Amino acid sequence: MLRIGIIGYGYWGPNILRNFSSIEGAQVVSVCDIDRQLLARAKKAFPSMRATCDCRELTSSPDIDAVAVITPVSTHYELAKCALLNGKHVFVEKPFTSTSTQAEELIELAARKNLKIMVDHTFLFTGAVRKMKEVIGNGTLGKLYYYDSMRVNLGQFQHDVNVIWDLAPHDLSIMDYLIEERPNALIATGQSHFNGLEDIAYITVYFPNNIIAHFNVNWLSPVKMRTTLLGGEKKMLVWNDLDADEKIKIYDKGVDIQSREGVYNLLVSYRSGDMWAPKVEQHEALRLEAEYFRDCVLNDETPFNDGEAGLRVVKMLEAAHKSLKNKGEMVSL
Ligand SMILES: NC(=O)c1ccc[n+]([C@@H]2O[C@H](COP(=O)([O-])OP(=O)(O)OC[C@H]3O[C@@H](n4cnc5c(N)ncnc54)[C@H](O)[C@@H]3O)[C@@H](O)[C@H]2O)c1
Repeated sequence: MLRIGIIGYGYWGPNILRNFSSIEGAQVVSVCDIDRQLLARAKKAFPSMRATCDCRELTSSPDIDAVAVITPVSTHYELAKCALLNGKHVFVEKPFTSTSTQAEELIELAARKNLKIMVDHTFLFTGAVRKMKEVIGNGTLGKLYYYDSMRVNLGQFQHDVNVIWDLAPHDLSIMDYLIEERPNALIATGQSHFNGLEDIAYITVYFPNNIIAHFNVNWLSPVKMRTTLLGGEKKMLVWNDLDADEKIKIYDKGVDIQSREGVYNLLVSYRSGDMWAPKVEQHEALRLEAEYFRDCVLNDETPFNDGEAGLRVVKMLEAAHKSLKNKGEMVSL
């Protein structure tokens, strides 16, 4: 049995609590939030659970094995560090930390104490991303050319982080999971219109083997769009996360090169074949992730979305932030 304490019961915390308390082999012992009204709401929903405003009560409790940190990013490092120092495994929200130095310190601390860190990169547990991993892995798409994503909608404006730190962790973690090669540089541009925090941004990530990735994140779009294109040598894939029935479509479209004898003789033919929509598992990603966290801790296994995965995303976010502030300067990774 994995006994869990949850810190943060704002927007996302209730989803974490609901999932950890509904799976076999796990029990949410206590919840913590500095907001008493939210605590009262948690207590009403789960009367037998302890509730506290003081996170130290939870991190030092001998009947808690793991702590979930579901608070704003600026607090992740302190809360996760406190939990690890007290011998607790940690499930921490995305983005892992505010800086890569903080992430490295937590990884080192967890390793020294033989504790697990899992970063909540929720999308990696969705049926769509698992299907994409499968079709890349079994060679359906062939050699990858590009990854192109759009995550735009109106709001929700954050007060402590810009749109890159808010929305891009999802797409960067998905790219990091799907593409095994590691990128070597990126550029980012963006603009703020209201409170000094960028509300629209574009990130381009370069890989050594000619794969290119592009991310469009925007809080100022009149419509919500969640679309990713994956272009491969053999097939091309479109993931529309807002399509309830056919989230993923694979197109037998592409370019065949017949002759490479000099640029002027390049013979290109365009292939336009069938399209099909593979079956995508329907389940709640967080539930699967909660079960995976329980299993990793109880079986002493390292999760694929561990601190290192969180660190890779934080490094890209830092690089994007630096590039954006320097008007799109190339930053090495
Ligand atoms: N994985 C996902 O899809 C997903 C979705 C939404 C949010 N998130 C992440 O979840 C985290 C929280 O986001 P949110 O939207 O729920 O924020 P929120 O502001 O709605 O909730 C955060 C809660 O943490 C509490 N809190 C802050 N500091 C605390 C402390 N020291 N001790 C106890 N409680 C404290 C606040 O009172 C608040 O209720 C962020 O890191 C965010 O990026 C992830």
